[in-house]
Amino acid sequence: MSARRVTVQDCPGGPLLIRGADEVVAADGTVAEATRPVVAVCRCGRSARLPWCDASHRAKRRSNRDD
Ligand code: FES
Repeated sequence: MSARRVTVQDCPGGPLLIRGADEVVAADGTVAEATRPVVAVCRCGRSARLPWCDASHRAKRRSNRDD
């Protein structure tokens, strides 16, 4: 039996891209099934679909540019 490879890619200012995972476990123990080969996990806390990224981090960056 061979080990399955899971990789995590940091997207600066955005999510973590996780490839090859079956599930993602949040800090509170909540388990979310990874139904795609690559899933994007929110790091900004603004997503309406936590733990998944819904691109809300982009709106945050735009508003910071207007400051
Ligand atoms: S990182 Fe994309 S919505 Fe939070």
